[in-house]
Amino acid sequence: MALRTSPEVGGMGHSIKRKEDPRFIRGKGTYVDDVVLPGMLWLDIVRSPHAHAKIVKIDTAKALAVPGVLAVITGQDLAKYNLHWMPTLMSDTQMVLPVEKVMYQAQEVAGVLATSRYAAADGMAAVEVEYEPLPVVVDPKKALLPGAPVLRTDKKDKKDNHIWHWEWGDRAATDRTFAEAAVTVKQDIYIPRIHVSSIETCGCVAHFDKVNDKLTVWMTTQAPHAIRTVFALVAGHVGLAEHKIRIISPDIGGGFGGKVPVYPGYVIAVAASVLTGKPVKWIEDRMENLQADSFARDYHITAELAAKKDGTLTALRIKTLADHGYTDAAANPSKFPAGLFHVCTGSYDLTAAHVEVDGVYTNKPPGGIAYRCSFRVTEAVHTIERMVDLMARELGMDAADFRMKNFIKPEQFPYKSALGWEYDSGNYGAALQKAMDRVGYAELKREQAEKRKRGELMGIGISSFTEIVGAGPSKHFDILGLKMFDSCEIRIHPTGKAIARFGTKSQGQGHETTYAQILAEELGIPAKDIQVEEGDTDTAPYGLGTYASRSTPVAGAAAAMAARKIQDKARKIAAHLLEVAPEDLVWEPGKFSVKGAPDKFKTIQDIAFAAYTNHPQGMEAGLEAVSYYDPPNLTYPFGSYIAVVDIDKGTGEVKIRRFVAVDDCGNIINPMIVEGQIHGGLTMGLAPALYEEITYDEIGNVQGGSFIDYLVPTAVETPNWETDKTCTPSPHHPLGAKGVGESATVGAPVAIANAVVDALWHLGVRHVDIPITPPKVWRLLRDKGVDE
Ligand code: CDP
Repeated sequence: MALRTSPEVGGMGHSIKRKEDPRFIRGKGTYVDDVVLPGMLWLDIVRSPHAHAKIVKIDTAKALAVPGVLAVITGQDLAKYNLHWMPTLMSDTQMVLPVEKVMYQAQEVAGVLATSRYAAADGMAAVEVEYEPLPVVVDPKKALLPGAPVLRTDKKDKKDNHIWHWEWGDRAATDRTFAEAAVTVKQDIYIPRIHVSSIETCGCVAHFDKVNDKLTVWMTTQAPHAIRTVFALVAGHVGLAEHKIRIISPDIGGGFGGKVPVYPGYVIAVAASVLTGKPVKWIEDRMENLQADSFARDYHITAELAAKKDGTLTALRIKTLADHGYTDAAANPSKFPAGLFHVCTGSYDLTAAHVEVDGVYTNKPPGGIAYRCSFRVTEAVHTIERMVDLMARELGMDAADFRMKNFIKPEQFPYKSALGWEYDSGNYGAALQKAMDRVGYAELKREQAEKRKRGELMGIGISSFTEIVGAGPSKHFDILGLKMFDSCEIRIHPTGKAIARFGTKSQGQGHETTYAQILAEELGIPAKDIQVEEGDTDTAPYGLGTYASRSTPVAGAAAAMAARKIQDKARKIAAHLLEVAPEDLVWEPGKFSVKGAPDKFKTIQDIAFAAYTNHPQGMEAGLEAVSYYDPPNLTYPFGSYIAVVDIDKGTGEVKIRRFVAVDDCGNIINPMIVEGQIHGGLTMGLAPALYEEITYDEIGNVQGGSFIDYLVPTAVETPNWETDKTCTPSPHHPLGAKGVGESATVGAPVAIANAVVDALWHLGVRHVDIPITPPKVWRLLRDKGVDE
């Protein structure tokens, strides 16, 4: 039987016939979709309606008859060049296009190349694919049962669906501490599969210039240099050498970790451009983006926490199943397949901990991306903050008092956690106290007690999280062997204006502003005279890109270090101009003056001019510097959030009445940008707490594959965030700054979850998995015998 690709799967909008619409032909713009080149071809992608099926036949005849369609590219075509599989960033393998079978619904099956977007869409709909369905595995627990169908039949020796086992910590000491503990609590926690849903979907324009033998790819990537290296490694054998590849990452409409991986669409577009010598554009539609791009979370956790009778926490033990879909295509540092999940001891002084994670294959798209958190930290924070709440209740203690008692104390920093991380600095008690004062904690507790007497459901939830950002020190951090340093190159022109280029790539975080501010502060050149550039591999120094809140901790530090190299050279030039010894000069931002003679000075602009016109003999001309910064440690931002919720007994709806967020990211470079990062992050934390989840039915049909089902909160659902801060500088960062981009996404969901459990605890509810939807709460209330 020849099944036509279901129009319900991916690309649905494309199957509607449209005439050429001049509104779609744009001039030079700033996003990938704005890139329009002469003679450009369009790529659209046929996607599988099945989650697991053998490909019997791909019939392209009707597609090739569609006016404007030039070619249909299949896995067989790519296999001729050994390009049908590619390596993932976790050293697994991922299909570009399948030859034998598909492994998840909406997987790429073939590419249709045409002269216009509409012809490509019509061609896509005309490709006929015959499938033979295979047994589907969606539940990672079932995937590990004996007799479960083995999914990765391409791996010859693979006999099961287990990807890897990873464990960390002292198992014996942890087991001993649990055996001796006066009180223990245990809880299963599921952190569901969610999607980044950035405003801009993924896409690229690949242009292979046959005359110069050079490939330029404008693409939606958060890590252009790493992508260039991956492309060279994958396609070196067909002549794409790294110096002949240029990746340009223009303006990016949100990345959040979802634009780190290499998706098949990019590779097919590149292959199509190399084959035709024409520019080829591929832009996903919204449903393709939601259904097929990499996902986050999907952690099945069993956690246990131990304490003494007096409420002193002692040990943590965690076992986790990580559903990675059909391939491990996460972008974790190589040494840590479960990311930095072992920061799960959180803000608490524990003596022992042990964590185990098992990666599992299922018939789903790749999972495990670091969605606005540095590699599994959201999962870690959710676990410890739920468990601490449970333990406080078990002991009959107030959740805030219990945290205060068990926090790592300020004098314990730098603090070595039970799982080996060295926290740089922190003052957790101060942040929680500030949040409690701001929200009026004691008064809220009184109100709650009164409401409870009247049968009203009100909850107060705390999350006192510790983040871990700034990956990372080259001793431990690499991706595919590439060490996770980052870079800044500064060139000061003769007239004192500067250009600074970075290995990171902003996706809306405002690097252009904050990097210019760092340089203005360090060099005394006004920010308006500094041009900040990122995202072009032909010009920017090599760096690992922007994700995991690493830009400030790593590239921000590189900016300061490069500026300080420039300052050193500028001192020597100023000494030459002022005819004094370099050590007789005093620096204040913008100028060097002679000690004791402040009217004898040279401005940075004077010095820049002299660097090209009157530099000292024996010194190289110019005023430039580059720094590849290898951070000595990560930075550990933190915060305390308090959510106050009211639950409607009739509908089960959770309403967030107040949400106070106190953040600490060390020294702040730009308060307005940090505030914006926190507001956005909080809303992205609200999303999985109450709304977002992608599920699959038993045959692997995606549920939540469009915005009708995948409920991204809007301004209407978003409460008024009340933000505040404390400031505990990082002792090792040159500016005392820590990252902040992800703190709020990491810290917010569990504050809301804790508030909901707090509202329902007296009814016998110990735990609710997110998203805490009205039907879920309504069912719980009915089960507990609560009337409307
Ligand atoms: O890597 P990413 O840019 O996503 O995260 P980040 O380093 O936390 O920075 C997010 C934005 O906040 C950037 O524009 C930073 O320069 C700014 N920021 C700041 O102004 N002060 C801090 N202490 C941390 C970040």
